[in-house]
Amino acid sequence: MGKMERLDKILALHGVGSRKEAGLLVRRGSVLINGVQAARAEQKVDPERDSISVEGKELTLRKHLYIMMNKPSGVLSATRDPRAETVVDLLPPKWRRKGIFPAGRLDKDTRGLLILTDDGDFAHRMLAPKSHVWKLYEAELDGPVGPEERERFREGISIGDRICLPAELYLPEGKPSSLVRVRIREGKFHQVKRMFGAVGREVTALKRLRIGNLPLDGSLKPGECRLMTEEEKSSVFEQEAENPGPSGGITEKC
Ligand code: URA
Repeated sequence: MGKMERLDKILALHGVGSRKEAGLLVRRGSVLINGVQAARAEQKVDPERDSISVEGKELTLRKHLYIMMNKPSGVLSATRDPRAETVVDLLPPKWRRKGIFPAGRLDKDTRGLLILTDDGDFAHRMLAPKSHVWKLYEAELDGPVGPEERERFREGISIGDRICLPAELYLPEGKPSSLVRVRIREGKFHQVKRMFGAVGREVTALKRLRIGNLPLDGSLKPGECRLMTEEEKSSVFEQEAENPGPSGGITEKC
């Protein structure tokens, strides 16, 4: 099932008039949902599934797009840039529509899971600090980190003038390593790089593997993308079903 929306909102979005005018049409009995006269302007419909007609003419409903991309390094997480290639430039033309944007940014040199959508509510919900959506990254460092750094990440490390929320650092077999995974639930500017910077390490490569309970589809090559399923859309807001374990699943290939 898609996201339910108010009938008057959908009508207004599709150029039928203002919300008020849309309400009038409903009251006049001019709006049908799946062939049945709509009862109220506030009633919820599913733009992905329902058909709506106004004065006998069926609306061609514009559905939201939800795209999973394996972002390559060297591309900006932005919609348009006069000088550099953006993730929107990588989309097939049929999805490069007005209003599409990356929901959350990855640095130019960061790779991995990125969601693009034209659904502002979805993006807002995913990015709102109070949603606490976990993001899992794999980081290559210029030297090893170990249990001591793991403890500091758990306590909430300070970067600049602020303290990060507790984060989980996963070490392969619990041992010091320069290839680690880290799970955070905020998305401050350069957050992962700054967190490692605060423990004296530089991130030499960074890849996002998971958002909430949604893993990057391992069959997507860098720069490739595909539409997300309904289940995948919901899984963004689920906590990881299983704790990835002390090593964060580092032995599995991502
Ligand atoms: N943290 C970073 O430092 N960079 C990213 O791209 C994402 C998280």
